Amino acid sequence: MLIHIITLFPGMFEGVFQESILARAAARGLVDIRIVPLREFGLGTHRVVDDTPYGGGGGMVLKPEPIAAALESLDRRGRVVLTTPRGSLFTQNDALRLSREEVLTFICGHYEGVDERVSELLVDEELSIGDYVLTGGELPAMVMADAVVRLIPDVLGKDSLHTGDSHYEGLLEHPQYTRPREFRGMSVPEVLLSGDHARIQAWRRHMAREKTIQTRPDLLSRSGRAGAVTDSGTGRQGEGDDR
Ligand code: ADE
Repeated sequence: MLIHIITLFPGMFEGVFQESILARAAARGLVDIRIVPLREFGLGTHRVVDDTPYGGGGGMVLKPEPIAAALESLDRRGRVVLTTPRGSLFTQNDALRLSREEVLTFICGHYEGVDERVSELLVDEELSIGDYVLTGGELPAMVMADAVVRLIPDVLGKDSLHTGDSHYEGLLEHPQYTRPREFRGMSVPEVLLSGDHARIQAWRRHMAREKTIQTRPDLLSRSGRAGAVTDSGTGRQGEGDDR
């Protein structure tokens, strides 16, 4: 997959994609993440990228021409995503859907907003990572790129499949334990030591559901699972959350 990230702050991305799973994915040729500095497409000798809003009001708005020029400089832009707090909420389903694209381009919103004509003419979808406002769309682009890349086939090793993830099938992940068997008086649940795979699976499904009821009951009602028996192992990927 090829991912472009158009940003006014390319320095923010240094390091983020050079560590751990994302770095290995890039080294193995599974993903190529290219940072596109928006300033290079700014207007005039001062490389202006923003201006005051028509109609007054505070703050600055990102101008459409530099963003259009940045997009037009790309050989392929694929699906174009604008990161903005007014976008629809990015979920695991979106991560899975976007992981099937060959090329993705993120435009990081900034300041008070982006000229509406960018959204109307140049963007395929607007996504937000949550109901709070960050200083810009850079962290959201990193978050989304990370969530997408780990779902590209072969990025995660065989030992760390994403099918047990929180939000896979609309449930949170069941509790996990590793050695030691006892820690500060708390033992690993006996069932996990039993070697009985069916019992372990049933326990994990039960605990995933309990955890979801406790902390995110909205996930169950959204996916129509309230009161339903959990059905992991259907082979569906993350489709429980259908908003
Ligand atoms: N830019 C600022 N806040 C944001 C958010 N919550 N999601 C996406 N982009 C943003």
